[in-house]
Amino acid sequence: MATTEQAQVTKQHLIDPEICIRCNTCEETCPIDAITHDGTNYVVKPDICNHCMACVAPCPTGAIDNWQPVFVEKMYSLEEQYSWDELPALQALEVPADDTPVAAGTDSDAEVTIQGSNYVAGSQIPPWSASHSYTNLYGTRNFITATVSGNYRLTDESSESDIRHVVLDFGETPFPVLEGQSIGIIPPGTDASDRLHHARQYSLASPRDGERPRYNNVSITVKRVVQDYDGNPVQGVCSNYVCDLKKGDKVQVIGPFGHTFLMPNHPGSNIIMICTGTGSAPMRAMTERRRRKRQEEAVDEHGKLMLFFGARCQEELPYFGPLNKLPKDFIDINFAFSRTPGQPKKYVQDVMRERIVDLLELLKNEDTYIYVCGLKGMEAGVLEVLQEVAASGGMDWSELHANLRQKGRLHLETY
Ligand code: FAD
Ligand code: A2P
Repeated sequence: MATTEQAQVTKQHLIDPEICIRCNTCEETCPIDAITHDGTNYVVKPDICNHCMACVAPCPTGAIDNWQPVFVEKMYSLEEQYSWDELPALQALEVPADDTPVAAGTDSDAEVTIQGSNYVAGSQIPPWSASHSYTNLYGTRNFITATVSGNYRLTDESSESDIRHVVLDFGETPFPVLEGQSIGIIPPGTDASDRLHHARQYSLASPRDGERPRYNNVSITVKRVVQDYDGNPVQGVCSNYVCDLKKGDKVQVIGPFGHTFLMPNHPGSNIIMICTGTGSAPMRAMTERRRRKRQEEAVDEHGKLMLFFGARCQEELPYFGPLNKLPKDFIDINFAFSRTPGQPKKYVQDVMRERIVDLLELLKNEDTYIYVCGLKGMEAGVLEVLQEVAASGGMDWSELHANLRQKGRLHLETY
């Protein structure tokens, strides 16, 4: 921690509660458990944080990147941080000019994050050929208002799971996005403590040129949350709001977010996509981008697309119909259903094991990029299978894993 004897000041690492979208990325990334949260705010433990910066690059909004000079004896406690609706005004003191932590997004910051991140399984950088992403153009203080131009149920009416395809139009206001990015939606109203609701994050399901090509619109895939993680009945604030939206309704949107979970664009680049449920949104966006490019170009220069998609059953799988209509020579689709009556329970990792030979061929190729999105629980299982794939070809997993991470070839987004 940076201190000076004379002034007895330090830079305290704080999270801006106004910008934070409570996505949990920082808490997961922190190698020393210095970040925690309650029902309202994410906060940094002042006695534990060592300013290693590992959490800074992964934060989608930049809320994490706040360093306030404070007197050591007046460092903000966790209780104080939990009570904030916004960051406090700066304490009146002076700090030596050379006592500044590395700013987010600089090369040295990226270096620290990558080299020190054996606890981060995925890449902290995008593929080399990814397009430039714009991030944080709109925040809670300058949100953009979108108009709902469609809301369609994707899952079978008979299924318990209500997953929606919602189209949002930005009209004349620029909202540049790339496949793999996400947006934040601010639900109306206040929470139990009478604070404005914080924004929830949703991956884009549409490609960069719009849900409808050349329209300034995007689509998202939203599951209505009616149970908490323990199975108790609950009404998720934002998911229910979004699932109930009607055509013409206005929605407050922030973002776009995300500068690493982006697709490669160079000829011959292969994409392996592994997802469950609404984790299919970015995969739809990438697939649709490639499908449109293939239609436009006389020769398809792109590499292979391989998809592993898990759901309880066919009726609960978003985009099942459209996916099945895609040509077999365009995308290699592998479904994993866990609750089809009379069938053995299958997870994405089981189906990946069935395709180990083809996965090995792809993994050996430096032009192959891997994307995992959906249930947090699948991350460990998927990494385990990738390790098995590597071993089946005599490859050293730790070397391969380091290569995948350092070259922006392995991307995990689970929630
Ligand atoms: P809340 O009111 O915040 O929570 C209500 C209760 O439900 C709480 O107890 C909470 O712990 C629990 N809960 C929250 N989420 C879930 C869940 N998914 N399953 C079960 N219980 C839950 N969601 C999508 O539908 N589509 C997406 O494309 C998508 N992309 C995301 C991308 C990222 C990077 C992240 C971090 C999250 C993403 N989410 C997505 C999740 C989304 O941001 C919200 O967390 C989700 O919609 C629940 O919000 P809520 O306001 O309805 O529930
Ligand atoms: P399960 O039948 O065991 O719940 P959900 O519908 O809850 O979003 O889940 C999507 C799919 O992911 C379901 O088939 C679910 O199976 C499956 N799943 C649950 N846990 C894991 C896991 N650890 N790894 C892979 N898939 C999982």
